[in-house]
Amino acid sequence: MSHLLELTGVSKRFGGVQAVNEVDFHADPGEIVGVIGPNGAGKTTLFNIVTGFYRPDAGKMTFDGHNLVGLKPNQVTRIGIARTFQAVRLFANMSVIENAMVGQHTRTRSGVFGAILHTRRTVEEERRIQLKAQEALAFFGDRLIPRINQLASELAYADRRRLEIARAMATEPKLLLLDEPAAGMNPAEKDGLIELIGRLRDEKGYAIVLIEHDMPVIKGVCDRVVALDYGSKIAEGTYDEVASNRQVVEAYLGKAASEVQ
Ligand SMILES: Nc1ncnc2c1ncn2[C@@H]1O[C@H](COP(=O)(O)OP(=O)(O)OP(=O)(O)O)[C@@H](O)[C@H]1O
Ligand SMILES: [Mg+2]
Repeated sequence: MSHLLELTGVSKRFGGVQAVNEVDFHADPGEIVGVIGPNGAGKTTLFNIVTGFYRPDAGKMTFDGHNLVGLKPNQVTRIGIARTFQAVRLFANMSVIENAMVGQHTRTRSGVFGAILHTRRTVEEERRIQLKAQEALAFFGDRLIPRINQLASELAYADRRRLEIARAMATEPKLLLLDEPAAGMNPAEKDGLIELIGRLRDEKGYAIVLIEHDMPVIKGVCDRVVALDYGSKIAEGTYDEVASNRQVVEAYLGKAASEVQ
């Protein structure tokens, strides 16, 4: 059986750094796959390869019947992959709703010319985009909807991270890639995030890949965990299997693992 997202032998080198080294990876609807590993292990590069920011040097990648290799980021969005960034990337001087709308413009058919001409089709499309954005924002209860017309720069940090997720959701993806969403959150906010990510899986049926350094978050929400070190996959399995793997403990967890147990 083929997986929704399937990578086989994917590699990427930057100069002398083998950032990703012959990685096999997959994700399916209704599961949350955690990706852990030390700084520089290649986690974000893996996302950058899947989303078309970088082309892999070697390997195969398929998503939902498409060959992913060679697709551009906007094409990747269109076939159903959305991501958030490790460092929040919002338009500070745009409102919350505008930020939630912006990810979808790669999907519209009228495109830039339609926007200039303001045809009836673009007006309808804008309305549809706005509805999708509102729906995504509403997923966060009363965190974002009451602030819909505020500037993104006025949001508290945790709300900015939520808005990033909402923007990704509004593109109606099948696969959601989250790059360290818990970074900078306090314990209560992390608990909320764990609940939210679980709901994204259960209510939306997304396949979710979650890069996180926060082990309680990984333990709390992941169905399967993959560990990377120096670009290579060194372990894969349940949280308990991976967290007790000797190579993982040596490369990464050490103290962090004992904190969780
Ligand atoms: N555009 C680039 N040019 C050169 N080197 C890069 C580039 N992107 C990533 N690297 C290198 O590839 C390696 C993997 O980086 P990556 O950002 O994927 O790590 P990471 O696992 O996400 O780390 P962190 O936990 O710190 O975010 C690092 O050595 C990094 O310096
Ligand atoms: Mg990273």
